[in-house]
Amino acid sequence: MPSIIIVGGFYGDEGKGKIVSYIAEKDDSSIAVRGGVGPNAGHSIVWHGRTFRLRMLPSAFVNPKTQLLIGPGVLVNPDVFLKEVKELGVGDRCGLDPLCAIIEQKHIDLDRGSDHLRGKIGTTGTGTGPCNVDRVNRIVRLARDLPELNDYVTDVPLAVNRALEKGENVLVEGTQGTYLSLFHGSYPFVTSKDVTASSIAADVGLGPTNIDKVLTVFKAYVTRVGAGYLKDELSPEEAARRGWAEYGTVTGRQRRAAPFDYDLAKRAVMLNGATEIALTKMDIVYNDVKGVTTFEALPPAAKAFIEKVEAETGVPVTLIGTGPGVNEVIDRRI
Ligand code: GTP
Ligand code: IMP
Ligand code: MG
Repeated sequence: MPSIIIVGGFYGDEGKGKIVSYIAEKDDSSIAVRGGVGPNAGHSIVWHGRTFRLRMLPSAFVNPKTQLLIGPGVLVNPDVFLKEVKELGVGDRCGLDPLCAIIEQKHIDLDRGSDHLRGKIGTTGTGTGPCNVDRVNRIVRLARDLPELNDYVTDVPLAVNRALEKGENVLVEGTQGTYLSLFHGSYPFVTSKDVTASSIAADVGLGPTNIDKVLTVFKAYVTRVGAGYLKDELSPEEAARRGWAEYGTVTGRQRRAAPFDYDLAKRAVMLNGATEIALTKMDIVYNDVKGVTTFEALPPAAKAFIEKVEAETGVPVTLIGTGPGVNEVIDRRI
C-alpha cells in the first residue's frame, strides 16, 4: 500500500502543512512521519477555525488515529517538541527516533550570533546549522541520551516499514523546499542539508524502492525568506497590493514574493521525481476560487493556469488549495 512523500517545490512555505493534514484525514494515514531539517520549519494549519503553528510534530495531528513520528535524520529541539506534544495533547501517539540529534542552546547562540549565518544567509536562528555541524563532527547529543525524552523514543524506521508491510498508508512529511537544499539549492543561501524527496526518505529510514508517490507542493506564486536570488522579485508594496504579503511562521519576517516560476517548477519535478503536484493559494491569485471544491467550478483563468503547469511539468496537478482551511481543497486524485 502506498507511501507518499510530500516535499516543497520552491523555497519552503508552499503550504505543505495544510496539504499533509488534508491527506492524513482523507487517506486515514496510520503513520505520519517527519523528515527534513528540524524546528527551522514552521507549518500553519487552520483546522475547525483554529490556527495551529507547528515546528517539530507532523502536521497530520488532525487525524486522531494517525501516529506522529519524527525520523532519525531530523534535528530535535526538546523544548519545542515537548511543548507541542503538550499543547496538542498527543503524548499517547507520538514518538521520535533515538538517533535524532539534539539542538542545544549553544547551537542557537552560534546561529544567532554569527554575522555569516544570521547576517549574510538570513537563517531562521533556530540552531539547526550549527547542530548539523556537530552531528557531522560526531560530537552531538542524541535523543537516546535525554531522560526527558525516554517516553517518546521509538524505532521510527522499523515502525514505518512495518506499517507498509501491513498495507497501511504512510505519509512522509518533508520540510523547507527544493531550492533551499544544500545540494540543489542556491548555495550558499540554503539550509544545512538536502531536502529533496530522496533525502526526506532517508531521514525516516525508507529505502528508494519503498516509495510509491512523491507529491511536490507549489504555491501559485513564489515566496522566499532570508537572502538569495529571487527571479522577478516584487517590491514589498507590490506584493502587498496583490495580497501576496506573508509573514514567516518561525521568524515573523515578511516573505519576499515573485510570480510563479515554471523553470523552477520543472526542475523541482525532476529533482524530486514528482509523480503529482499540489498547487496551493489559488484563491489568493484568482478571483472566485475561495472555498471551491471541484475543478469544474473554477473560473477559466484558474483552470488555464493549472493546465499550463501540467503541460510544462508533465505531471498532474492532483490537489488544489482554495483557502487556508484543511478542507479547502480540490482533490483530483483517483
Ligand atoms: P515549511 O515547512 O516552513 O516550508 O512551511 P509550509 O510549507 O507548511 O507552509 P507554511 O504553513 O509556512 O505557509 C503556508 C501558509 O499558507 C499558511 O499560512 C497556510 O495556512 C496557508 N495556506 C496553505 N494553503 C493555502 C491555500 O490554498 N489558500 C490560502 N489562502 N492559504 C493557504
Ligand atoms: P536555516 O535553515 O535556519 O539555517 O536557514 C537557511 C535558509 O533557509 C534561510 O534563508 C531560511 O530563511 C531558510 N529556511 C529554513 N527553513 C525554512 C522554512 O521552513 N521555510 C522557509 N524558509 C526556510
Ligand atoms: Mg513554513
